[in-house]
Amino acid sequence: MFRSTIVAAVSVAMFVLPLLATAQEREFRLGLITPSVHVWNQEVAALSETLSKLSDSRFTVVAFPSGQLGSETTMLQQLQTGALDMAWLTSAEITNRVPAMSALHAPFLVDNIEDAGRVLRSDLAREILDELPRATGTVGLCYAMTGMRQLLMQNPVESAADLDGLRFRITPAPPIRTFFEMFGAAPAPMPLTQVYDALANGQIDAIDMDYESIINFGYFDHATYMMETNHHLFGMVALVSRRVWAELSPEDQAILREAIQFHCDRTIDRFIEGEADKLVQLLAVEGLTIVENVGPEFFGDIVERWDAEWAAQTPYIQRMRDLVAGF
Ligand code: BEZ
Repeated sequence: MFRSTIVAAVSVAMFVLPLLATAQEREFRLGLITPSVHVWNQEVAALSETLSKLSDSRFTVVAFPSGQLGSETTMLQQLQTGALDMAWLTSAEITNRVPAMSALHAPFLVDNIEDAGRVLRSDLAREILDELPRATGTVGLCYAMTGMRQLLMQNPVESAADLDGLRFRITPAPPIRTFFEMFGAAPAPMPLTQVYDALANGQIDAIDMDYESIINFGYFDHATYMMETNHHLFGMVALVSRRVWAELSPEDQAILREAIQFHCDRTIDRFIEGEADKLVQLLAVEGLTIVENVGPEFFGDIVERWDAEWAAQTPYIQRMRDLVAGF
């Protein structure tokens, strides 16, 4: 009797304990639309190491870059069903489900990248993340960014009137569409992965883009006139599937929170530190004309009109403007 109890205990130790250990080990699948050279992807690679350290080697991250798993809309659906564990998606994508997130895309909300960082680290921006579980089936742990957005065109532009009728590639997002429609452009929403070819084959005339992506993809091969407008900040939200999150113990959730927050912060810092140098790099590109310091006045009353339209949809527009006014 005694012997059979020992045999049973040893069997448990041999077969069940290793299974339990494996059950706690996890390789999280993380999707992004950006290519491997992008700062986000570099930080995701580093996140895997941080998570491994904090979890005694139980957790790692495997990244699926360049929209390998589909567009951001598709990845958001995969997060919702639990088919994907994590994603670093643009705040623009989230505006499709959470109108309050549009406040981050208010035109000329901030006039420098340091203030963009302050907005993304604010309690007010964090408050918007509370809406994500219900609206998207995800947990939004923190924000980062890919810098400020600029206008890159195939032909020179003298005034806002020249933007009228231009086929402008935009990230698919209602608040961005409104801005471009308000100056008469024909917005062409398309995922980042399609932009280079669309410019090359003349399907679009111009793009709304950040320095990091302009450099990474070399869009100036096919669009040689850039206006430094900094017209909106371009945020990123680090997401975990709500289903996946619910399977984790509070201790493991805390590990994820700490690791991901660290890399969100480092991403913001890297963009703040690198933005001016990226402009210098672009100024050195042969054949690329850059008009610097184009302010909101170039767009006439569009900022007021944009605010009036979007303030009717979410109180966060005014609250975000008030926050920035206090910086
Ligand atoms: C874009 O849609 O323009 C975009 C998305 C992610 C990173 C950078 C740009």
